[in-house]
Amino acid sequence: MRVLAIESSCDETAAAVVTDGQIIESNIVASQSELHAKYGGIVPEVAARAHLQSIIPVVRQALVDAHVGWEDLDAISATRGPGLPSALVVGFGAARGLAFGLGLPFVPVDHIEGHVMANWLIQKQTLDLPNLPAVALVVSGGHTELLLVEEGPVFKRLGGTRDDAAGEAFDKVARLLGLSYPGGPEVSKAASNAVVKKMHFPRAWLRGTDDFSFSGLKTAVYRSVEELQNSDINEIAWAFQESVVDVLSKKAVYAAEREGAQSLLLAGGVAANSRLREIVQDRSTIPVHIPPPSLCTDNAAMIAAATRIEMAISSDSLIDIDPTPYRSRVQRIG
Ligand code: KG4
Ligand code: ZN
Repeated sequence: MRVLAIESSCDETAAAVVTDGQIIESNIVASQSELHAKYGGIVPEVAARAHLQSIIPVVRQALVDAHVGWEDLDAISATRGPGLPSALVVGFGAARGLAFGLGLPFVPVDHIEGHVMANWLIQKQTLDLPNLPAVALVVSGGHTELLLVEEGPVFKRLGGTRDDAAGEAFDKVARLLGLSYPGGPEVSKAASNAVVKKMHFPRAWLRGTDDFSFSGLKTAVYRSVEELQNSDINEIAWAFQESVVDVLSKKAVYAAEREGAQSLLLAGGVAANSRLREIVQDRSTIPVHIPPPSLCTDNAAMIAAATRIEMAISSDSLIDIDPTPYRSRVQRIG
């Protein structure tokens, strides 16, 4: 089955052609991060307009790169949510219109499930697919969640952030340190340049839960920047990253052990962070799966990978469904 998938939930306009939910034939991502950089974060109206400009060229390029025509497609899918409503509606509307016009099944996909399913996209011809049940840590600009992934796959929410998402914390700290947007890669680069590594920021463990909190850490970083006039930006970035990565990795590994998981999956933009990748692999006693960095940040190949789950459970036509800023399949996510 060959799927054309479209993703436009945030600041990337993306389209991909994927076969059987695993083989990437093309994967086009038009990033808007430069447009938003001067604001230090995403401006929804700017995002929506940029999606409108990019959507048709991006979809065309996905077909060209895959060497396929409309007649070679079996279904069209799109991110339904969660995301920015004005951004979602562009990719979702385009996908729905194409499906209607071409007489193909239209499949709305949950963005978070898409991030997790990036772990099923085959890289370099390896067949090292995750075994289930798995615990997945989804860490992005908008979300920080621990999910139990059972056979199906079926997703159950174990916990998540009570305030900022991990990526959001990286972006806000970048702003405090005078670094540019998106902040994750910038903070990570500054951290790797740290020479002095003495600073220690607090960790919010929220013991007894699978929840997270990063707002206290953000305040601690703010205070350290205010108080230490000549403070070393690199050391602050390093100490901040250590705090986030310590909590994320310990809680994910603990949840995986407690749930008897056979594998631990990382997903979402923050999973591109090399320190997080390293520490989770070090601490986990079960196999860890992490997509390559380009499939951790928003892309449409992951949406294509999640398409077959939705097709397997939905017998009705989904053409009348609308996008939503919330999780798109609340009934299956506890
Ligand atoms: O998954 P994603 O592309 O979009 C959302 O669904 O939110 O994640 C974007 C987030 C941003 O907050 C960005 O700063 C963060 O992922 N990010 C990183 C790294 N690369 C991207 N955070 C830490 N380290 C990185 N290397
Ligand atoms: Zn995302």
